[in-house]
Amino acid sequence: MSDNKNPHEKVEKNVGLMAVLIAVAVSFGGLAEIVPLMFQAEAIKPLEGVEPYPALELAGRDIYVREGCYNCHSQMVRTLRFETERYGHYSLAGESVYDRPFQWGSKRTGPDLARVGGRYSDAWHRVHLINPRDVVPESNMPSFPWLEKNELDGATVARHMAALRKLGDPYTDEQLASAAEDVKGKTELDAVVAYLQGLGRHAPRGGQQ
Ligand code: HEC
Repeated sequence: MSDNKNPHEKVEKNVGLMAVLIAVAVSFGGLAEIVPLMFQAEAIKPLEGVEPYPALELAGRDIYVREGCYNCHSQMVRTLRFETERYGHYSLAGESVYDRPFQWGSKRTGPDLARVGGRYSDAWHRVHLINPRDVVPESNMPSFPWLEKNELDGATVARHMAALRKLGDPYTDEQLASAAEDVKGKTELDAVVAYLQGLGRHAPRGGQQ
């Protein structure tokens, strides 16, 4: 009997072999799910009007990341009725093609910001960022008073745009050449406000579709 084991029995009685074969089987399942997604990501086209961030907005986005705004704010409207009623059209993949890294987030100490562009005036954002309680008395958002005092560094913004172009973002030579000039004399506060006002600008209108 022993020299005549069927292959199945061999696998069942040999833990090492079974572990290897399980790993092979699982990785096939993983590949079948993951590989098509990689090609899909390449195929996602930007929504109409969605372009790489202009210099000032890109600088603002960097500050948003630096200050950890994403720890309290998501940028992802889910496809649930109470979300679309509150914020607007749910988020679409084609809106985030130039977001590296994306800021979808999940923690919402404050409201979602994916559709905040145009909801308030620039002046409101300035006051709010310097001291949120001046416009929303019950707010527990931290103050960011230093944003108003720090000037942007044009060379850094230009280098960031050049790096993004290497990764495939279609910045033109003119945009790269004028980047430093575009942010000259601007403060970090100007940049964050420009970034916030651009959020959701090209999203479809209407709440519940
Ligand atoms: C500790 C959590 C926390 C952090 C960090 C934080 N926020 Fe907030 N944010 C809030 C809360 C809470 C509110 C709601 C109350 C208010 O409007 O101030 C809010 C509101 C906002 C609003 C108004 C949104 C709306 O639809 O009314 C904007 C814009 C905003 N935050 C931007 C930012 C930016 C930009 C940063 C980073 C520089 C930031 N927040 C960091 C908690 C936070």
